[in-house]
Amino acid sequence: MPAYRRALRKLELDTGLSVMDLATGTGILAAAFAERGHPTTGIDFAANLLNRARKKFPAVTFREMDLVELDGIRDGSFGIVSIGYFLHGVDSEFRKEVLEEAARIASDYVIVFDYGRPGNFVVRFIEWVEGPHYPVYLASSRVAEYREAGLEIVKDFPTSDFGQVWVCRHLTGRV
Ligand SMILES: C[S@@+](CC[C@H](N)C(=O)[O-])C[C@H]1O[C@@H](n2cnc3c(N)ncnc32)[C@H](O)[C@@H]1O
Repeated sequence: MPAYRRALRKLELDTGLSVMDLATGTGILAAAFAERGHPTTGIDFAANLLNRARKKFPAVTFREMDLVELDGIRDGSFGIVSIGYFLHGVDSEFRKEVLEEAARIASDYVIVFDYGRPGNFVVRFIEWVEGPHYPVYLASSRVAEYREAGLEIVKDFPTSDFGQVWVCRHLTGRV
């Protein structure tokens, strides 16, 4: 959470922009937005994580929802759609689907926090246990991946030894 807080402080986003945090888990990224004043909603399909998040971060609205159901949300419903440490854990097809839906739901920004470079031994071990997607994710191009989803990076910087944030907007000419 300190890394999320530091990055958001640096980004100085308009706090009038509402936030939809996808795959929110225990809600730490959603809470970092909410404490800056953004009206924030977090969604995840894990009810147990959401119950913990609701107790800890009452300022955030948490909804139980699978990311495959994002098509039920109207275009441009949220100023910002954020995705924290989710994309590296899924295959390229689902990454594309989620990024496209994030771009559609966001009116202004899609903000992704994830690995920007290989982590230390502990990180690599955890990700090895969690599945096969992390090395493939690291080896592929974020620029190309965002572009395919209709997004371009307007700002990015490291958030830790291995973490990175990418602030994306719709490609010029697309809404
Ligand atoms: C590594 S955690 C990241 C949690 C949080 N964003 C953070 O930064 O701490 C990944 C989260 O994705 C959620 N998740 C995975 N697949 C999902 C899906 N299809 N729909 C909704 N949530 C999903 C998991 O339940 C988990 O909470």
